[in-house]
Amino acid sequence: MLEVENLTVRYGRITALAELDLAVPEGRIVTVLGANGAGKSSLLKALIGLTPIAGGAIRWKGEAIHRRPASERVKAGLALVPEGRRILVSMTVEDNLKVGAYHRDDPAQVAREIDAIYQRFPNLAERRFQKASCLSGGEQQMLAVGRALVSGSSLMMLDEPSLGLSPIIIARLFELLVELNKGGLALLLVEQNTNMALSVAHEGHVLKLGRKIAHGTPQQLLADARLQEAYLGG
Ligand SMILES: Nc1ncnc2c1ncn2[C@@H]1O[C@H](COP(=O)(O)OP(=O)(O)O)[C@@H](O)[C@H]1O
Ligand SMILES: [Mg+2]
Repeated sequence: MLEVENLTVRYGRITALAELDLAVPEGRIVTVLGANGAGKSSLLKALIGLTPIAGGAIRWKGEAIHRRPASERVKAGLALVPEGRRILVSMTVEDNLKVGAYHRDDPAQVAREIDAIYQRFPNLAERRFQKASCLSGGEQQMLAVGRALVSGSSLMMLDEPSLGLSPIIIARLFELLVELNKGGLALLLVEQNTNMALSVAHEGHVLKLGRKIAHGTPQQLLADARLQEAYLGG
């Protein structure tokens, strides 16, 4: 469904991502692991169109999308849950969800999907008319996921969703991700929380300083000593 070929991202003289190949097949969970500075966020920003690419190609359902603006990629079914959630804290919970659906043209359908999100997250339903700033960190992350869901995405990309959350909330978040995936949503999951990510993913890639150093099933990666190296800083 998503194919990344030879992708390179540069910031001036810094190469954040070098010649990366990666694919997310339909309905799969693919994780991208790596320490700080490995190029994980640069990858997701390049995929959604927030960072220009210096080389390579991004194909979505067979079509090259890397020259299209972010808004068109979202319309085509890509969604990004950015690092640090980036919800609009001065807006209400409900308005945050509506922002996720701004490009959609069937208000009745969007209203049904927002209702479905409230059923899934009763905490959000209770606070729908309160400012998002009154939510806990975990609830804010659920809101960020909800916002990506109402964008009508078929591939959700998440940038370190577990960051700053307690172990119990992380476990609930990952249960939710598995459930969404069972419903057909493909996930590209960027994490530093290797164990959680590998516990749900079908396959994983490990980046180090912008280059892929390993790729395989969770079982293969867990058995790979170089994976440890990437986390211990080599
Ligand atoms: N806007 C930017 N300008 C310059 N350098 C950047 C920018 N964003 C990221 N970088 C650099 O690119 C590299 C990869 O960063 P990033 O993609 O954020 O990695 P990760 O998300 O894995 O921590 C790092 O060396 C980082 O300092
Ligand atoms: Mg990052």
